[in-house]
Amino acid sequence: MENVRIEVRDNICIITIDRPKVLNALNAQTVGEIAEAFELARANASVKAVIVTGGGEKAFVAGADINELAKLTPITGKETSENGQRVFRAIETFPKPVIAAVNGFALGGGCELALACHVRIASENAQLGLPEVTLGIIPGYGGTQRMVRLLGKGKALELICTGDRIGAAEAEKIGLVNRVVPAEQLMSTAEEMAKKMASRGPLAVRAAIEAVMVGSDMGFDEGQVLEATLFGLLASSDDMKEGMTAFLEKRKADFKGK
Ligand code: COA
Repeated sequence: MENVRIEVRDNICIITIDRPKVLNALNAQTVGEIAEAFELARANASVKAVIVTGGGEKAFVAGADINELAKLTPITGKETSENGQRVFRAIETFPKPVIAAVNGFALGGGCELALACHVRIASENAQLGLPEVTLGIIPGYGGTQRMVRLLGKGKALELICTGDRIGAAEAEKIGLVNRVVPAEQLMSTAEEMAKKMASRGPLAVRAAIEAVMVGSDMGFDEGQVLEATLFGLLASSDDMKEGMTAFLEKRKADFKGK
């Protein structure tokens, strides 16, 4: 891979989008490499959680690569959008927790990438936004759909229709990011949260992600059926026995993901 780096340490896979010369802008190759990185993280049983971040000091990802966008036709535009949507949906439904460590500009496709992650932690210097309308387009990697689900119609339409960038503090206030920390603490904060999630029952965490991510797009009753089914399924797992036995024996659980 040329534009994406992967590192696994302490059961955490760190995926870094690394094209700092263009502020980690997502060209088609980079979107493909992100998909590849997640497939590797999915297949690696030692990986229990994923952190996504940007290379360099300035940016998480400053959007889709505008050099490529400028050449789109109606057909390639639709294909590009569908491809990005597919890759980001695979992140959103990834069976292990995915944390975005937003270390600077997260604009356009970069903001959409952060939105597709399960949790967003931002550095104080981060700036987020969907500036597509300033280029005469709209967000095409699921941003219109995820922004409204996260923030509600009023805030989502304000941000999407102005194209304004907002700072980390404002993003935290409206719920666009979970937490803001000084830049030098960003990765350690993300790693600490990832390690905590990695120490929990992996099947339970996976079921929780599915219940929230898939269930929240269903009606309430259907979502509850999914929840009850996953709840029941976990009752067949060794992890449930281990978790409860460990509690009763007053020791730390040693989950095997079985
Ligand atoms: N696509 C392609 N190249 C990009 C890019 C993108 N989305 N974002 C930044 N770059 C390139 C710039 O063209 C510049 O290249 P150059 O050095 O060859 O001129 C380089 O990255 C550095 O960016 P620069 O604009 O000089 O940095 P800055 O600190 O002045 O501004 C931003 C930073 C993020 C505000 C500005 O780069 C920007 O507005 N980028 C586009 C954001 C956007 O609209 N994204 C949505 C796309 S759908």
